[in-house]
Amino acid sequence: MKLIKTITDKCFIDSEVLSVSKPRLTVRTILINDEDKIALMYMSKHKLYLFPGGGVEEGESLEEALKREVLEETGCSCNIIKELGYIYENRGLQDFTQQSYYYISKKCGEIRNATLTQEEEEEGTSCDWYDSDEIYELLKVSAHETLQQKFLQARDMAVLEEFRNVMKNSDDNMAQDIVNEWYESKTNVDEMIHWQKETLKLWETQVSQKYFPKNAKILDVGCGMGREAFNLTKMGFSVTGIDISNEAIKQVTELSLIKGYNIPFLHFDGYSMPFDDNEFDVVIIWAQTFGLLYGDKYKITFLMECRRVLKRNGILSFSGHDYNYLSKNYLQCLNGRKFFPYADTEIYWEAFTIDELADYAKQVGYAIKLCQTGEIYKPEDGTIIHCVCQK
Ligand SMILES: C[S@@+](CC[C@H](N)C(=O)[O-])C[C@H]1O[C@@H](n2cnc3c(N)ncnc32)[C@H](O)[C@@H]1O
Repeated sequence: MKLIKTITDKCFIDSEVLSVSKPRLTVRTILINDEDKIALMYMSKHKLYLFPGGGVEEGESLEEALKREVLEETGCSCNIIKELGYIYENRGLQDFTQQSYYYISKKCGEIRNATLTQEEEEEGTSCDWYDSDEIYELLKVSAHETLQQKFLQARDMAVLEEFRNVMKNSDDNMAQDIVNEWYESKTNVDEMIHWQKETLKLWETQVSQKYFPKNAKILDVGCGMGREAFNLTKMGFSVTGIDISNEAIKQVTELSLIKGYNIPFLHFDGYSMPFDDNEFDVVIIWAQTFGLLYGDKYKITFLMECRRVLKRNGILSFSGHDYNYLSKNYLQCLNGRKFFPYADTEIYWEAFTIDELADYAKQVGYAIKLCQTGEIYKPEDGTIIHCVCQK
């Protein structure tokens, strides 16, 4: 995790004293709810606002500690979306050091009652939800007396600034609107209805036969009109489909009923899913949908989310357009790594080399089982690149 800021006594008073004590580890989060408001804790006794979180207990991972702390303090379960960075505090005069790891996470499920410690109760601790401008004002205005409070204020101010930069810089979010708009259009979804008649591609059949456990529980991300979901169900797998397009989910649900399947098709962005950790044996992102997840940050977070919902040793299979094939055969549709199969439209698919595709999975900690070109139906269809990896 990247270092956001180091804070020492010198930031507030004229002191060069540094502590060499072992840092206390804490985890904290920018926790976002469905209305895009952020949780902020308030300790009335100290007139102090802080992001939720607290100390990591012996034997806990950072993620485990964060989920526990958030549940205790706010009453919310949460899904971790991404790492934000850490703050190192060296409070020399107190001979105390602390390393606080910050994440961005999303609230999931209903809010229950918080279970505060006696100390937190005595401090008058409560949680409320604000937008980031309101939080900026609340954190900024408090005029703190003690050095400890000044440290905590400076720490969370630096984190808020980092969070705002991350959000501002995510042009990828804007690019993602192009994809959403395209797949919300009925005309474009209607086009996909022809694909669902098709069988699995050659490479998809090979991967499912070789790598998917018998009767595996599969999550199909970007299910569209159900091409993969229907075929994999026929092969004996138990499939759940999700898609970012409301229109696709509406149509595929009707089609599935007509066909007599009992497949859950749900409207969700694969970037943040409603499923528990370790729920699926297999996650697929097929039909080159990975190339619709514009920008590296978005892709990495997406693959992290897929990893979260996979069981231990679970399999992720994903594919992208083959940059080398396209540059030999469809150069006129390429702009750098962007492949525009439709003329005069904004939507494009990012294209990859084998190493590039594998590298995304490696960055998220998957073990690569296979990354290679794959055949579609017949040689004239050309090739795509696909990667099979393991949690
Ligand atoms: C190329 S189509 C593939 C559809 C289907 N898998 C097939 O082969 O017929 C890509 C699909 O991914 C969906 N999609 C794009 N971005 C997504 C995201 N972030 N989360 C979930 N689905 C997404 C689109 O709405 C679209 O239905």
